[in-house]
Amino acid sequence: MTEPTPALQIRALSKVFALREGALEVLRDITLTVDPGEFVTIVGASGCGKSTLLRLILGLDRDFRGEIRVDGVPVTGPAADRAIVFQDHRLLPWLTAEANVAAALLNSPLDAETRAREVREHLDLVGLSKFAKAWPRQLSGGMAQRVAIARALVGRPRFLLLDEPLGALDALTRLRMQEELKRIVAHEGATALLVTHDVDEAVYLGHRVVVMQPHPGRIATILEVPPEARADRSSPAFVALRDRILGLLGVGAIEALAV
Ligand SMILES: Nc1ncnc2c1ncn2[C@@H]1O[C@H](COP(=O)(O)OP(=O)(O)OP(=O)(O)O)[C@@H](O)[C@H]1O
Ligand SMILES: [Mg+2]
Repeated sequence: MTEPTPALQIRALSKVFALREGALEVLRDITLTVDPGEFVTIVGASGCGKSTLLRLILGLDRDFRGEIRVDGVPVTGPAADRAIVFQDHRLLPWLTAEANVAAALLNSPLDAETRAREVREHLDLVGLSKFAKAWPRQLSGGMAQRVAIARALVGRPRFLLLDEPLGALDALTRLRMQEELKRIVAHEGATALLVTHDVDEAVYLGHRVVVMQPHPGRIATILEVPPEARADRSSPAFVALRDRILGLLGVGAIEALAV
């Protein structure tokens, strides 16, 4: 049997920023393969190049060494097959929730009726059908972020890039949104790459967790998440994996309790 084409294939990726003070090596020798439908999470110290990596995959920056392929095709720029959600929702304040979602379909070949249906379906998917006509200022942080997720998904991207999408939310909303993200990504059959500072979130959402180390940003290790860990935050498998990752990140188990 032939292997399916990976959704994402990164090989020997390096990134250097040319600064006035000299060259800043941000990413070194990143190699990562992600299967279709897989949910991969990335943790690592601030400044280790996580956002830079997502920007490169999105195609916003073409100045790198190595290879990035999405569905087997080298990335040469942004495309409808990849969407991103940032920490802040970045909704347009002068558009309603549904118009913000619809804006993502501006260049889509779909007819008006299909577009309207897709927008409705995706607002429904994030539980916001009743708020279609609301303005961003009328939404809570969690609701606005859900609109941003609907906007990212409405074009049915095969690849969803998430850069700390739940970072600005309160703890309870965040837990709820983790459940929803897991459900939504599975429902859409998308492949997802999520950057987070929250190790619990990385273990709960990821099929695999990529642990990065800084200066320059490299992959320290990639850990498989056992299904029982992904299913239950209080399972021994979950706790063991979380503690192992915190150890790799240099955070002792006791310090972690204080986070
Ligand atoms: N456009 C740029 N020009 C120069 N240096 C940059 C640029 N963008 C990022 N950097 C540098 O690259 C390094 C990695 O930044 P990046 O934003 O990718 O880190 P990160 O892992 O996402 O951090 P955080 O967890 O704080 O979001 C940092 O040292 C940053 O200063
Ligand atoms: Mg970042």
